[in-house]
Amino acid sequence: MTTAVDIRLAAMTPADYDEVEALWKASPGVGLYPGDDRAGIERFLRRNPGLSFVARDGRNVVGAVLCGHDGRRGYVTHLAVDAVCRGEGLGTRLIEQCLDALASAGIEKVHLFVFKDNRGARTFWKRIGWEERDDLVTMSRYLTAARRLPEDE
Ligand SMILES: CC(C)(COP(=O)(O)OP(=O)(O)OC[C@H]1O[C@@H](n2cnc3c(N)ncnc32)[C@H](O)[C@@H]1OP(=O)(O)O)[C@@H](O)C(=O)NCCC(=O)NCCS
Repeated sequence: MTTAVDIRLAAMTPADYDEVEALWKASPGVGLYPGDDRAGIERFLRRNPGLSFVARDGRNVVGAVLCGHDGRRGYVTHLAVDAVCRGEGLGTRLIEQCLDALASAGIEKVHLFVFKDNRGARTFWKRIGWEERDDLVTMSRYLTAARRLPEDE
C-alpha cells in the first residue's frame, strides 16, 4: 500500500500535463477555464519556473498545484489531491513546497481563490493557517472579444 511518505514531490513540467489535467478534471472544486489548456499551462510554467508541483506515488500523479508570483504577491491555484490519497497531509505538503519556493523568491504574502460553496477546501485552508477574507470581493474582466459567463474564473 502506498503511504504519504512514499509520495514524492517534484516541480511540474509540461510533460506532466495530461496526468495533471485528468486529476483536475476528476476534482470537483478545481475550475478549468480558457487558459488551462496545454498551451496555457506551459506558458504559466515558463513564466513561473520551479514554483508549481506534482506529487507522484512512484508512477502516477496523485497531487498537483499551480503557483506563481508577480514580483510582489504570490498566488496558488488548481490544488488537487487524488481522492484515494486525501487526508494524509499531501495537500499540506504541496502547499508548503509552494510557500517555501515563494519565500525563496522574496515573496511575503500569498493569495488564492476558493469557490464559496467548496466547504471542504475552505476548512482545509483554514486548518493549514490561511485567513478567510470578508473585506474583499473579486472582480474580473476578459480582454478578449469572446463573451464568457461571469462566473468563469
Ligand atoms: C482540498 C484538498 C486539496 C485537501 O488535500 P488533503 O491532502 O486531503 O489535505 P491534508 O491531508 O493536507 O489536510 C490538512 C488538514 O485539512 C483538513 N481537511 C482536508 N480536507 C478537508 C475537508 N474536505 N473537510 C474538512 N477538513 C479537511 C484535514 O483533516 C487536515 O486537518 P488536520 O491537520 O486536523 O488533520 C483535497 O481535498 C482536494 O483535492 N479536493 C478537491 C479539489 C479542491 O477542492 N481543491 C481546492 C481548490 S481551492
